[in-house]
Amino acid sequence: MKKISIIILAAGFGTRMKSSTPKVLHKISGYPMIFHILDEAKKLSNDIHVVLYHQYEFIKEKISKEYENISFHLQNHEKYPGTGGALMGIDFSHEKVLVLCGDMPLIQAQDLDEFFKNDEDVIMSVFKAKNPFGYGRVVMDDFLHVKKIVEQKDANYDEKKIDIVNAGVYAFNKKFLSNTLPLLNNNNAQKEYYITDLIALANKNNSKVKAIFVKEDTFMGVNSKVHLSQAEELMQQRIKEDLMMQGVILRLPSSIYIDAKAVIKGECIIENGVSIEGKCEIENSHIRTNSVVEDSIILNSTIGPMARIRPKSVINDSRIGNFVETKKAVLKGVKAGHLSYLGDCEIGEGTNVGCGTITCNYDGVKKHKTIIGKNVFIGSDTQFVAPVNIEDEVIIAAGTTVTKDLKKGVLAIDRNPLKQIAGFYKKHFKKSLS
Ligand code: UD1
Ligand code: CA
Repeated sequence: MKKISIIILAAGFGTRMKSSTPKVLHKISGYPMIFHILDEAKKLSNDIHVVLYHQYEFIKEKISKEYENISFHLQNHEKYPGTGGALMGIDFSHEKVLVLCGDMPLIQAQDLDEFFKNDEDVIMSVFKAKNPFGYGRVVMDDFLHVKKIVEQKDANYDEKKIDIVNAGVYAFNKKFLSNTLPLLNNNNAQKEYYITDLIALANKNNSKVKAIFVKEDTFMGVNSKVHLSQAEELMQQRIKEDLMMQGVILRLPSSIYIDAKAVIKGECIIENGVSIEGKCEIENSHIRTNSVVEDSIILNSTIGPMARIRPKSVINDSRIGNFVETKKAVLKGVKAGHLSYLGDCEIGEGTNVGCGTITCNYDGVKKHKTIIGKNVFIGSDTQFVAPVNIEDEVIIAAGTTVTKDLKKGVLAIDRNPLKQIAGFYKKHFKKSLS
């Protein structure tokens, strides 16, 4: 743990997202942007502050459910709007203060090392932007010393041509902040107190300013849904490269989606078009084309193609084929090759689930459980009207609707005798085709 305080700015309106969801709660790879940055901040500091204003209570509650020991602050937005206003009136425990933004989901703790190695009053971050529009432009002198930052809306024609931009991460000495924040004004296009004006003020006071070059792909800020999709793309690339380096095979990786919280271990193959959502744990398994796995555990199994494994399924040593949907299904050593719905059930080792099997788990009011033992042979088109309990070594004939518990070793058959009515075709269609 480093001796630094971290403040995460998240009090903006996020207007450019055009959404009622607060900007910092928009998700990247299944996880809110601000959680990504909080996870990294937690690795570095024991004094973490989050500044909020717009949807204060809502965001605070979401964060508090996941994280302990965060100091929340309500920005005095009416009087002091802007990124500089967000820093005002906050008491930090350590001498060094790192400023991060809630809309920067790609930064990792190791990317921030450089910010603590130096002892300037102001350390700021810059990159050469592919498209500088929207970023604060960094005005430098001939010796590459930063003079000031000019925001997009305040920039003149020449300044807009600058492609070195402010990345938006800073480290300040606490004393510098307390001395300089009161000197900020809001004489600019947005009538806001800009954090970026601290740089010009530092130069005025002869305080030392250092600029660190960082990677755009890591430090990009998300202001719009276009940025959101770009950050998602980058995060997915990172997640998938990490997995491949650990030995997971991804076939056509660009077609695969993997949640940031997924754990994939051992010898796994994930084929094209697969979507792994939520907190999944997959080990030594093969997930075939176009399958969806959500919040489930899969061990030593084959899934798909085109299967849907819904939350809280635990699938062990099993084979799940095409068009099989599971939900809260605990399967061990089971084969379910085709077209089935297995919800709220437990199925034991050696059991074969025939095509078209359905657990009827919902009576319109409540969900009920189906328990099926070991080595059961379930004929095609069987329905289990839950709650129902099937003991080991049962055979269920095709087309059976199981409404009662079945004892070990029985054959269950529920069929009307097949009638054959001679000459009916000719009578019905008034002709014979042969
Ligand atoms: C900001 C910088 C810009 C930089 C860019 C990098 C300013 C004035 N501009 O612009 O130089 O290139 O980041 O991504 O700082 N926030 C508050 N309170 C407010 C306003 C904003 O806490 O009153 C928070 C936002 O929630 C956000 C962060 O500060 O997390 C940055 O605000 P945003 O509006 O996204 O600034 P940019 O226009 O991206
Ligand atoms: Ca931003």
